[in-house]
Amino acid sequence: MRGEEPEGWPGVIHREGRTLMRVSERPDSERSGPVSRRSGGVFLNPAMSGSRTRSVLLLDYAMESGMLGDGAVYALDGLSAGGLRARRWLNELPVENARRLDVTISDLDSDALSWAMGSHLEFPPMHGEGELSSSVGDLRKLVLSHGRHWVDIDPFGSPLPFLDSAIQSLARSGVIEVSATDTAALTGSSRGAMLRRYGARVRTDGLAHDSALRVMLASLASNAARHDRCIEPLLSIWDSHHLRVSARVRKSREGANAVEDNLGWRVHSPTYEEVVASIESGLHPNYSLSSLPMTCLLPLSHPVERRDARISGPLWIGGIGDRGAMSSMTEEKAVRLCAPEFVGGDLAEWTERDFEMERRRIVRSVRNIEDEATVIDSAHHILVDDLSSWLGIGSPPSPASMVGLLKEMGHNASLAHYGKPSFRTNANWDDIVEVALGLQPPI
Ligand SMILES: C[S@@+](CC[C@H](N)C(=O)[O-])C[C@H]1O[C@@H](n2cnc3c(N)ncnc32)[C@H](O)[C@@H]1O
Repeated sequence: MRGEEPEGWPGVIHREGRTLMRVSERPDSERSGPVSRRSGGVFLNPAMSGSRTRSVLLLDYAMESGMLGDGAVYALDGLSAGGLRARRWLNELPVENARRLDVTISDLDSDALSWAMGSHLEFPPMHGEGELSSSVGDLRKLVLSHGRHWVDIDPFGSPLPFLDSAIQSLARSGVIEVSATDTAALTGSSRGAMLRRYGARVRTDGLAHDSALRVMLASLASNAARHDRCIEPLLSIWDSHHLRVSARVRKSREGANAVEDNLGWRVHSPTYEEVVASIESGLHPNYSLSSLPMTCLLPLSHPVERRDARISGPLWIGGIGDRGAMSSMTEEKAVRLCAPEFVGGDLAEWTERDFEMERRRIVRSVRNIEDEATVIDSAHHILVDDLSSWLGIGSPPSPASMVGLLKEMGHNASLAHYGKPSFRTNANWDDIVEVALGLQPPI
């Protein structure tokens, strides 16, 4: 490599997706925890590989859809560590989009950037297109030095310290991707931290991760509104130990003024009056009201007792993803762009089986997302375990059977890309109950 070698260089060659990199020690790709910077080297968390794969696919979609304009795309991988995310964008996007990319990686850790640039020199994008440069320093300062179409924030812990400056740096129409690993706060189990950081409460139930995504979107939207911008969520995913929301951010004073239209509350075990209010606000499908649903959403203007343990919020009550973006994330496309092909004599010393395992990880990273696109703005996200307890039925109905039968009734329904067996649907509560009771009679 040119310039000064970082401590531990050259380490070993590792692969994620189609991209090769040097790391101090080979991570276990099936591990669910981060690899720290032991004895020099570079931070790499294999548990985030799915998030990086989705980032490649989302950037490709955003470029194809025109939301980033039709010229050069300035992208910033703001807390880049070893730069793998940015290098995967450059290497795995189709050549016609990769050539439009002008990417900066930045980090406080100059050694991490040396590892990144060393890997980039040794394993440049296969098609030879796109630009990569690095910048050492505090992201909060660096980000304001240049306007960007795409900003990625992937911190240890909460992204809040970086949001304000990142949003200000975005072009009139840009995309921000934000990860958070302060999971105890976001899922409500660390109540004080949740209230201090996000000004919200989350009920610690099976939907806590869904609520956490919505709290993060609410934070992003309020932050954007302060800078005369509005957000349109593209993809919101909870994955093992972290959450990630990706949103288009547009300059629009009108949109910023309307920020509260998409904020509100999630109510567990709502009263009759709360369900009626939810239906009247267009947040719940109309039905007979002969039995009450497990949850409903309410607008911010609805008076709630914030200390009521049934209430989560304020949180985002609109759709948490974009139909176009999500439906573009097919398993076929993920494999076509990101899965490596076995050719033998491999630089990372991978066997054919290693390649097959990576292909499976790539497929897993987008599982259900394409189908979920049709229901991502639906009122009901139903965990089948919760449903069986709520209805007093023997065992949880199969989510796949629920989805199939609801579709037969003419509703939209899909399995959810979520950590617990669940589905989303625009069906009304009467039909959900009828299908569940048909599958598992009450005991
Ligand atoms: C979770 S790691 C990033 C992982 C990386 N995005 C990936 O996909 O492998 C967070 C990084 O943020 C860097 N960092 C922390 N505070 C920072 C700051 N204020 N400005 C710039 N970088 C910072 C750390 O050095 C660390 O490398």
